[in-house]
Amino acid sequence: MNRRDRKIGSFLIYAFSVCWILGFPIWADPVVATEKSAETTAAKAGPDLDPDPDQRCGELLSSQAWFADNQRFYDELPARDFMRRAHDCGLLHSPDLKVPMVQYYLRNILGKAGRTRPTRVVMEIGSGYGRILHELLNQFPGIEKVHAVELSGNNAATLRQVFGKHPRVTIRNENILNTTIQNSTVDVALWMWAGFLEIPPEQKPRALRQVFFKLRRGGVLIMDLPVSTVVVRTPVMKGSADFRDLQMVQRPGAPTLHLHFVTKETLIEWAEIAGFKYRGSIGYTADPPANTERNLHLFVKN
Ligand SMILES: C[S@@+](CC[C@H](N)C(=O)[O-])C[C@H]1O[C@@H](n2cnc3c(N)ncnc32)[C@H](O)[C@@H]1O
Repeated sequence: MNRRDRKIGSFLIYAFSVCWILGFPIWADPVVATEKSAETTAAKAGPDLDPDPDQRCGELLSSQAWFADNQRFYDELPARDFMRRAHDCGLLHSPDLKVPMVQYYLRNILGKAGRTRPTRVVMEIGSGYGRILHELLNQFPGIEKVHAVELSGNNAATLRQVFGKHPRVTIRNENILNTTIQNSTVDVALWMWAGFLEIPPEQKPRALRQVFFKLRRGGVLIMDLPVSTVVVRTPVMKGSADFRDLQMVQRPGAPTLHLHFVTKETLIEWAEIAGFKYRGSIGYTADPPANTERNLHLFVKN
C-alpha cells in the first residue's frame, strides 16, 4: 500500500466515524424505512374508524364513562331480575363452584383453616346479589373472612341485607381497581360469571395487577369466562360476533352494560405480566336452559 492509498483509507475511516457520531444514515435500514413510510401513510390517512358503532364502544368510551354506565346498569337492576338472569345463564345453582378443579383448590386452601395457618381470606370481585358468597359460607366453614367487593351501590345494599350481620363477611362498595383491601392478605380471589368482561380493555392489565397485589404468596385467582366464539345478536345484546366489544341492555332506554372479551391466550399473557403463574383451565357446561360452554382459568401467585 503506497502513501496515497493510506491517505485515502484514513480519510474514509475519518468520514465514516464523523457520520456515525452525528447519526447520518450511511446505508438505509430496509426495516426502519418500511416502518417509517407506513407511519407516514397512516398519519396521512387519519385514524382508522370503523363505521359500525357496535364495534367501537370499547375504544371511544373513557374508563370513567364505562364504569359509570355499568354501575347504573346494576343500580337499576332489581335483585329478582338479577337472579332471573343467573337462571337464564344456567348459573343460578352455581355449577361453576361444583367443577372438580375449583373444589380441589378451594378445599385445599379453605378447608384447612386453623391447621397450617391462622386465617383463610377470600376476596370475591363483583359479588352481585350474593350467589357465590352464599355457597362459599355454606360449603367452607373454614373461611375466616370474605371481602365482597362490589361496584354497584344497589347490589352492595342487597348484600348488606342478606350478609350484613355475618361476622365473617365484609361488604366493600368499591371498584376493584381502587379497593382498600390490604396487600398480601388474600388466599383466594374469585372472579366469577364473566365479571372480568365488565372491566374496560385498557384497565384489564391493571385490574389483574391489583388482584395480584392483594393475594398472599401461594394464593390463587379463579376466573370464569364464557367461550369466545359466542355469536351475540339478541334483543338484549349487541356486539361483534367475536364478543370483542359488546353492549347489553335490559330494555330500550335502560342503562347499558359494556363488556369486552379477551381470549384465553391474551388473558394468560396479561396475567403472567401481572406476576401470576398460569395453572390451567377447565371447561364446563352451564345448567339448562343456557347449556353454554364456559371456562374456568386458574392462576397462582408464587
Ligand atoms: C355478572 S355479575 C357477577 C356476580 C357474581 N360474581 C356471581 O357470580 O353471581 C358482575 C358483578 O360485578 C360487579 N362489578 C362490575 N365491575 C366491577 C368493578 N370494577 N369492581 C367491583 N365490582 C364490579 C357488578 O356490579 C356485578 O355485580
